[in-house]
Amino acid sequence: MWPDLRLCDLMKIGQPIIQAPMAGAATPALAAAVSNAGGLGSLGSAEMNVDQLRAATAMLREATDRPFNLNFFIQDAPRTEPAVLEHTRQRLAPWYSAAGLGAPPETLPALGPSFDDARLALLLEIRPAVVSFHFGLPAPDAVLALKAAGIVVVSTATNVAEARALERAGVDAVIAQGYEAGGHRGSHQPTAPGDGVGTMALIPQVADAVGVPVIAAGGIGDGRGIAAAFALGASGVQMGTAFLSCPEAGTDAPRRARLRCATDSDTMLTDAFSGRAARAMRSRYAQVMEAHREPLPAFLQMYALSDPLVAAGPEDEVSFHLYGQAASLTREVPAADLMQALTREAFATFARVSKSVP
Ligand SMILES: Cc1cc2nc3c(=O)[nH]c(=O)nc-3n(C[C@H](O)[C@H](O)[C@H](O)COP(=O)(O)O)c2cc1C
Repeated sequence: MWPDLRLCDLMKIGQPIIQAPMAGAATPALAAAVSNAGGLGSLGSAEMNVDQLRAATAMLREATDRPFNLNFFIQDAPRTEPAVLEHTRQRLAPWYSAAGLGAPPETLPALGPSFDDARLALLLEIRPAVVSFHFGLPAPDAVLALKAAGIVVVSTATNVAEARALERAGVDAVIAQGYEAGGHRGSHQPTAPGDGVGTMALIPQVADAVGVPVIAAGGIGDGRGIAAAFALGASGVQMGTAFLSCPEAGTDAPRRARLRCATDSDTMLTDAFSGRAARAMRSRYAQVMEAHREPLPAFLQMYALSDPLVAAGPEDEVSFHLYGQAASLTREVPAADLMQALTREAFATFARVSKSVP
């Protein structure tokens, strides 16, 4: 039996393992496989409009009748100062020129808020078991409405203050995301790439600070990491990178190839692609941009400037492969097999460690 069943009871799942909602990489097939294996499958909905979200959820419901999680970013409609856009265009001009792309774009797309009334209405209609948020929480009445509909609401904290704020705002569980994590840091305010607390230090401090179950995320690559998270006070884990090499994941071929030879030191924090700090594979572009930090266009609008460079490559120069520090532990096995292996390894670790008790 798992040493702490609070998350399993809350989410009505058999294994306290959440497959992280990875926008673009977490497909309905991956989420369904994890849910069917007793964990909680998740879809990252950040890049989907309401119709796409409705279609993806229908596919997921076709493939599983178990609980699953839909995930959203919390971000106001981004607005970039014209001077910041112009300055960034000048910085990027040599990269554009080297890639044979002409001049960087002069305008940025007008984007709305990441979570809005239409998405809330859809959630209240389709009622997933769990909704998770990244970068904070929506307005209090939205949280209340989701909870009143019987939906479990969780969000990410990257430090103790954020965890306390989430608990005060009524979340049912807190995802504590350490610095090792692949993907965007879930900080409630945009932070510099260097800011971050590691999972080992973060989990026990968050567990001491809040009364709701804590879900550990960041650098957990196998059952040893899961057992460690429980030892630190977590009631479950959220793992992203570990699922990227599953055949059901939407991971593209270049990133799959990178993961095959990943090391502990492959990645860095950078906001030079999206406008917000994310852990991704090191590339020369990211290193040059981080060496001389300047204000960048707002989160998500920055993609309009970086996407053409990423598409033009070459790989080692400019690539945006999101993965975490435990990437070398990933396995190319179906998600159901991975879930079985993770559970087996976690219990083997509990047994091994408990033998050393005097
Ligand atoms: C490719 C990728 C995409 C991600 N996208 C999201 C996302 O859309 N929403 C979210 O809440 N977290 C996202 N994350 C972060 C995860 O929720 C989680 O914090 C992280 O994967 C944990 O660290 P690990 O990758 O070392 O397991 C993403 C992570 C990765 C690796």
